[in-house]
Amino acid sequence: MNIEELYLKRQSTRKYSEKPVADETLEKVCRLGALAPSAKNSQPWKMFTINGEKAKKFAPCVQMFGANKWTNSCPAFIVLQLNRSKMEEKIAEKFTFADFSGNDIGLLTAYIVLAAEDMGLQTCILGIRDEKAIAEFLGEPEGTHYPLSLPRAMPKRAIPYAKRTENPSTRYSSL
Ligand SMILES: Cc1cc2nc3c(=O)[nH]c(=O)nc-3n(C[C@H](O)[C@H](O)[C@H](O)COP(=O)(O)O)c2cc1C
Repeated sequence: MNIEELYLKRQSTRKYSEKPVADETLEKVCRLGALAPSAKNSQPWKMFTINGEKAKKFAPCVQMFGANKWTNSCPAFIVLQLNRSKMEEKIAEKFTFADFSGNDIGLLTAYIVLAAEDMGLQTCILGIRDEKAIAEFLGEPEGTHYPLSLPRAMPKRAIPYAKRTENPSTRYSSL
């Protein structure tokens, strides 16, 4: 798929088929995602894949205030952990303008969703989450941060991609 097709095709999917996702596919998506650029090439992330039965147990970690209930039927997730060195954490705390971790995680996310789309898996970025519950689920230390999770799987039914065009509110000006 060329890049334009890929951009037009990607959209948030909240209805997935039961069809399982191969562990190798999830791993490949993560490996491609990790090619994303990051400030000072620091790659301040760690990715976790959660697949099959474990995904059902994980889903409540990304359901808060009644949101994201649809994730109960999602067969796989990729969870992004913010993983900075102590030095990077100190610098970010002292000089907030030099904290690029949000940019880095955003770029990683974009790479992941597009790689997944190209491999026939659809996604929905999840910002709503219970970080404490996620850390506990993963067996990671309390206080670690999980900026985003990405459920992924085959879509439940075909989506009319042709109707999707550029967002009309996109801010753009040509000087
Ligand atoms: C940082 C971020 C957090 C998001 N969190 C959620 C979420 O918790 N639940 C959800 O259903 N969608 C979530 N979304 C998906 C957005 O609602 C969606 O990307 C947006 O409406 C545009 O639609 P599209 O992805 O189909 O182009 C999130 C998107 C981003 C970028």
